[in-house]
Amino acid sequence: MDAFVIKGGKRLRGRVRVNGSKNSCLALMTAALLTDEPIVLLDVPNLRDTRNMANLLGTLGCEVEADSGRVQLKVTDRSQSLAHYDIVRTMRASVSVLGPLLAKRGAARVSMPGGCNIGDRPVDLHLRGLRSLGAKINLDQGYIVAEVPDGGRLLGARVFLGGAYGSTVLGTANVMSAATLARGTTVIEAAACEPEVVDLAQMLNAMGARINGAGTPRVVVEGVDELGGTQHRLMPDRIEAGTYIMAAAITNGEVMIENCPTDALTAVLDRLADVGVEVDPVDGDAGDQNGDPMRQTVRVGSHRRLDPVQVVTQPHPGFPTDLQAQIMALLCLADGNSIITEKIFPDRFLHVPELSRMGASMVRNGSSVLVSGVRKLIGAPVMASDLRASAGLVLAGLAADGVTTINRVYHLDRGYERMEVALAQLGADIERVDASV
Ligand code: EPZ
Repeated sequence: MDAFVIKGGKRLRGRVRVNGSKNSCLALMTAALLTDEPIVLLDVPNLRDTRNMANLLGTLGCEVEADSGRVQLKVTDRSQSLAHYDIVRTMRASVSVLGPLLAKRGAARVSMPGGCNIGDRPVDLHLRGLRSLGAKINLDQGYIVAEVPDGGRLLGARVFLGGAYGSTVLGTANVMSAATLARGTTVIEAAACEPEVVDLAQMLNAMGARINGAGTPRVVVEGVDELGGTQHRLMPDRIEAGTYIMAAAITNGEVMIENCPTDALTAVLDRLADVGVEVDPVDGDAGDQNGDPMRQTVRVGSHRRLDPVQVVTQPHPGFPTDLQAQIMALLCLADGNSIITEKIFPDRFLHVPELSRMGASMVRNGSSVLVSGVRKLIGAPVMASDLRASAGLVLAGLAADGVTTINRVYHLDRGYERMEVALAQLGADIERVDASV
């Protein structure tokens, strides 16, 4: 099992390019099940999760060719509609095959995703949405068994996807994808507004779908008879971008970040501005793509003094839960008391005791954590518990005095492509070691 060994205290300097979005990629890959023509995705990050999704699609009759960031997917066999427990348990996003399989093949048997380190993650809204489109869904031996009655098509309907913690990103992706091939019009109310849903809708429309309103709480899908192939460049990963911005900030560094989806980071940049972190677009930079606010080059700089702030995670366009651990690491070194409240996954705090082992001062009360800034963090052996918690520990390690060893970085490898290489290029003293020997 790999670990990272970080000698903290180096100021990061230089340039880093943000990869294509992991979460966008996972949902977009499943859209290949909606057509027999090839789908080509560009800027695909080479991650455990994207490789897992390729394996899953392979078991569902999809040929996958991957070559340095370009992935082609083409269905050649529609006879299998089983997403096995062995794959689903390694990656919850596997549930995204449910909508496309139902819409195109009329049936699906998908393992029910189990528990997860970041808390309860039910799929009731996914199932409610697909039932509204006419699917018959039962649970059998831990599997979601779904079918379209009489081998027909799903039927457009009004679908409400609001839940206790807001809408659902992958649930919206599932229902929107399924509705593209339904008979009639589907109106999704309380749809997730995340940019990854917009990315998916743009690709589905390029395949021939008729989707309006993606990125707003009401998405309207007029069903079509069939979809074709397309080529699509993934949106940049807003969470990776936010993580590198905070890595620069926590080391008081100065970093240029290319392919930064600034437009998708408004709430993050707002909080960071109050902390004292400057993130400025660089006009006319070579890495800048025609002034596209989703693909900018930005310069990150920070004041030596970090100010405390309040952060509340919320559905987009609010502050993303996937950057909560990272900003917590940063606020551990702020000059005063910050409060972080988690409104998406109220138990997503496994990084709190690990940061405390590094000298952070924190008190958790329910879904909020009071972070009292300390003058310095101190390196320690710590345990990564999930993807974003691991990223928070890496940031803490970059700033800490002495050596931090982060065990179980396989969690990190799910969502960041060779993070240690990117950080080392920026001047961090970080090394991947095999900790199992
Ligand atoms: C996506 O998960 C992301 N994963 C997560 O990123 C991200 O944290 C999350 O959205 C929230 O932004 C992918 O895109 C692959 P949700 P998803 O359904 O879609 C509740 C990362 O670190 N809920 O939007 O599974 C749920 O419990 C990962 O990259 C229901 O109650 O999340 C949560 O409180 C982790 N019923 C809230 O809604 C449901 O049927 C939002 O979850 C579904 C969800």
